[in-house]
Amino acid sequence: SKAEIGLIGLGVMGANLALNIAEKGYPVAVFNRTASRTGTFFENAGDLRENVVPCATLEEFVAQIKPPRPIILMVQAGKAVDEQIEGLRDFLSAGDIIIDAGNANFRDTIRRFDELENSGLTFIGMGVSGGEEGARHGPSIMVGGEKQAYERVESVLKSIAAKFEGEPCCAWLGHGGAGHFVKTIHNGIEYADMQMIAEIYGILRDGFGMGAKDIGGIFAKWNEGRLNSYLVEITAAVLEADDPMSGDPIVDRILDRAGQKGTGRWSAIEAQMMGVPATAIESAVAARSISADRELRLLASKTYGSAPAPTNTKPDASVIQDLELALFAGKIAAYAQGFAVMDQASDEFQWNLPMPTIARIWRAGCIIRSQFLGTLARSFEADPDAENLLLINDFVSMMEEAHPALRRVVAQAALAGLPVPALSAALGYFDAFRQARSTANLIQAQRDYFGAHGFERIDEGGEHHGPWGSGAASA
Ligand code: 6PG
Repeated sequence: SKAEIGLIGLGVMGANLALNIAEKGYPVAVFNRTASRTGTFFENAGDLRENVVPCATLEEFVAQIKPPRPIILMVQAGKAVDEQIEGLRDFLSAGDIIIDAGNANFRDTIRRFDELENSGLTFIGMGVSGGEEGARHGPSIMVGGEKQAYERVESVLKSIAAKFEGEPCCAWLGHGGAGHFVKTIHNGIEYADMQMIAEIYGILRDGFGMGAKDIGGIFAKWNEGRLNSYLVEITAAVLEADDPMSGDPIVDRILDRAGQKGTGRWSAIEAQMMGVPATAIESAVAARSISADRELRLLASKTYGSAPAPTNTKPDASVIQDLELALFAGKIAAYAQGFAVMDQASDEFQWNLPMPTIARIWRAGCIIRSQFLGTLARSFEADPDAENLLLINDFVSMMEEAHPALRRVVAQAALAGLPVPALSAALGYFDAFRQARSTANLIQAQRDYFGAHGFERIDEGGEHHGPWGSGAASA
C-alpha cells in the first residue's frame, strides 16, 4: 500500500480536494462509485498522477492506504454518507478513521459517532469551506471528533488548508459534531452576508434605478475599505460581467429565485432550539424561501402593486456612505448573532469551542473570509470571554459609527417599499439588545392575564399575579 490517505467521491469538491492533497506531496487513493469518473479524474490529473492511486473497487481502495487509514468522504450529505460508511466498514480495521468532509447536519454527525462507537473505527466530522477554488488551492477546515484521530491527519489537513499570513486555516474545534456545527453557522452567516449585500443592491437597482455595472463599481470601491471581503469582491465581479448571449449584464438575465441546500436553515433552526436570537440569519433564510415562490410573488405584485418606480437619480456621496456603513452595521449584528449561537452550543454540547481560533481559521479560504474577521480574531484574543461581540470595545466603536446609517437606510427603504428584511432584522436586534427597559413587562402581564403564569415585580421579590378581575385566568 502506498497512499497516505484515501478519498471517496470525485465530484467537484472531492476531485479538487484530491488534487490539492496530491499536490502537497501526499499520495492519495481515490474511489468513486461510478468508476468511469475515477478514470477521467486520473487522466486529467496531469503531473499529479504520480501521487494519485485510482481504485476501481472499495477493497482495492482500502488495501492501497497505509494503516491506520484516514479516509475522506466527499459525497452528498445525507443518506449517501451512511451508505458509504456501511459499504466501507467491512474492509476497514481498528484504528482507521472515516472523515466526513461534506456539509453534514451536525446531528447526523453525532449519530454517526454513536453508531461507530465500539467498532474500533474513529470518525471525524469536518467542515470544508471555500467552494471549488478553495478545495483545490486551500479551503478553511473546521474539524470535530476525537483529538487523537485529528492528530493523525493534522499534517495533511494543515498543508492543504488555506494560509493566512502563513498560518493554516485549519483547526480541531471540539469533539463530536463541533466541526460540522461550526461549518453550519459559517453558512448561516454566509447567508446573512449575501442577503444584506443583495438588499443594498436592491436599493440601488430599484430605489435609484442604477444599472448593474454602476452598482458593481460601488461594491468594488467598498471592497477597498472596511467591507473588504471575498463576498463583496465577487459581488462586484458578478455585477460587472456581461452575458455572452444577450450582451446584457448577466445578473439581469438570471432568474430571481434562490436555491438553498439546508445549512443556512439548520443554523436558524439550531438557534431557535437553543433560544438564541439569530434574526439576521433567519431573515436571510426566509428571504431565499420568499424568492423561491416566484409565482406567488408575481400574483402579490399584481394585487398590491410593486414598490414605486425608481427615482433615477444618482445617489450622492453621503447616500453611498450610508449604504456602506449600513451594510457594515448589519454585518456586525449578524456575526454577533452567529457567534452567540456558537457560544450557547458550546455549552450545551460541551464542546468548549475556541472562538478566537474559529475567527482565525475563517480569515482565509472560506466564503466569508474578510478583513472584518481579522479584527474579530484580534478582539476575541484580547477578550475571549466576551459575552457578545457587540460588547467588545472595537465593535462598540464600529457600531456607534455605523448604526445611525443602518437606521437611515432601513427607514428610507421602508418608506420606499423596498424590502430589507435582513438589514432591518439586524437593526431590530441591535435596538432591542441595547434597550434598558424592554416592553416585556407587558408580555408578562398578558401571560399572567390569560394563563396565570405569574410575573416578577420591580419593587418586591417573589412571584406575583395581577389584579385582572373576572375574565382573567385564576392563579
Ligand atoms: C462554502 C459554501 C459551500 C456551499 C454551500 C452553500 O462554505 O464553501 O457554504 O459549502 O456553497 O452548500 O449553500 P447553499 O447551496 O444552501 O447556498
